[in-house]
Formats: sequence, C-alpha cells, structure tokens
Amino acid sequence: MVEITFLGHACFQLTHDGKTILVDPFLNGNPVASTGADGVWADLILVTHGHSDHVGDAVSISKRTGSPVFTAFELSLRLQAAGAKVVGGNHGGTHDFGFAKVKITWASHSSGYINPNTGEVEEAGNPCGFIVHFGGKTFYHAGDTALFGDMALVSGGGKLDVAMIPIGGFFTMDAHDAVEAVRLLKPSLVIPMHYNTFPQIQADHNRFRQDIEANTPSKCSILAPGEKIDV
Ligand code: NI
Ligand code: MN
Repeated sequence: MVEITFLGHACFQLTHDGKTILVDPFLNGNPVASTGADGVWADLILVTHGHSDHVGDAVSISKRTGSPVFTAFELSLRLQAAGAKVVGGNHGGTHDFGFAKVKITWASHSSGYINPNTGEVEEAGNPCGFIVHFGGKTFYHAGDTALFGDMALVSGGGKLDVAMIPIGGFFTMDAHDAVEAVRLLKPSLVIPMHYNTFPQIQADHNRFRQDIEANTPSKCSILAPGEKIDV
C-alpha cells in the first residue's frame, strides 16, 4: 500500500514503509498548498522542470532533510549551486534509489529556471515527467505537458496504477486533452492536478471525472489539497 497525499497544484507526497517521495514541492507561496515547506519530510524529491511553481521549496527541503533532488541534468546543476543534494538524469534514464526506481520521461513544455538571486531566467535543460516504481506500484507524474502521442509508450508496457496529469490548460493540456491522455496512458486511476491554483488555469474537475469515467476504463479521484488516498 502506498499513501498518496495531494499537497496542492502539482505537489504530491508518496509514502510507503517509512519512506517519503515528494514531487514538485511548491509549498511556500502556493495559494492552495495544504502545508508550508517546513511541514514536510522527504527521502527523495523529484522536480519535473525549472519553473518556480515546480522547483518551489526543493532546495530548502533538500538542505533540511538531506534528500537528493532527482531532475534533468542541467536543472540539477542549478539546484546544486543553490545548495541542494542532486542526481541529474535525462529522458529515458532510470535511477535506482533503493526504495524506489525512477525513470525520467518526456514532457512537451519548457524549463527556464528563474534564479532567485538575480531574477534572471536561466536555461535548465529539458522538462520531464517521472515513472516511479515504489511500494509495488507504478506511478506516472506527467509534470507540465501538452498532450503528446508517445504517452502511449510511457508505461513501458507495464500497467500504470496511478497517473497524475495536468488539466488546467493555458500552460499545459486542458481537461479535454487530458481525457485523450488517459486513453493513451490507460492507468487504473487518474488524479488531476495543475488547475484552480491561479486565475489562468481554471478547470471543472467534476466534469473531468465524469468524462473519464464515461469514456475510459480508468477511475478518477479528485483530491483537495491535504487529502490522501491509499493505493
Ligand atoms: Ni511549467
Ligand atoms: Mn506549472
């Protein structure tokens, strides 16, 4: 059993057997976050890309917990320079952290990193998603992405237990394209994210759930920030 907690926006916490994985820990300054950065623990932090609503508090949490940040190689160098412990990979590569194996996958997006000291946008490599094998389950966090056909290949031929995908539109795919994404991904369960945080990314999550359950074999769980489920 793995406990999934939605912390708001694109931030999820996965916990199993005393280990905690945090994805995209944008907590301080996140208008919908259910906790501040000091309220979370991590044994592993995954960051999908350099935008501030995804890097969030990764550096401070890494410093406090000693947890590595796994992300794209170029972004890992930026975060290392800021004081984080890092592991830098790239699309298609898998790293074995012992308690979890994590593969970096394609995302159709951009990945500028806003240097908090200078305010300048710096190049930070490719944006990504993650396939996480943890606690006997397989999770996909899509990061920020448009719909792309290779989502059909993301699971690597295995079964995705849970897919966390954006539905807010404007910066990512919208709720309509996200239904197409679910047709390609074929997860047992889909959890929508990256909506209703900011005025530009409004989405009707109940309508999305109805569309998923009417048009695909997947189940859909809507999690409010702070809410958790076991899978
Ligand atoms: Ni982004
Ligand atoms: Mn974003």
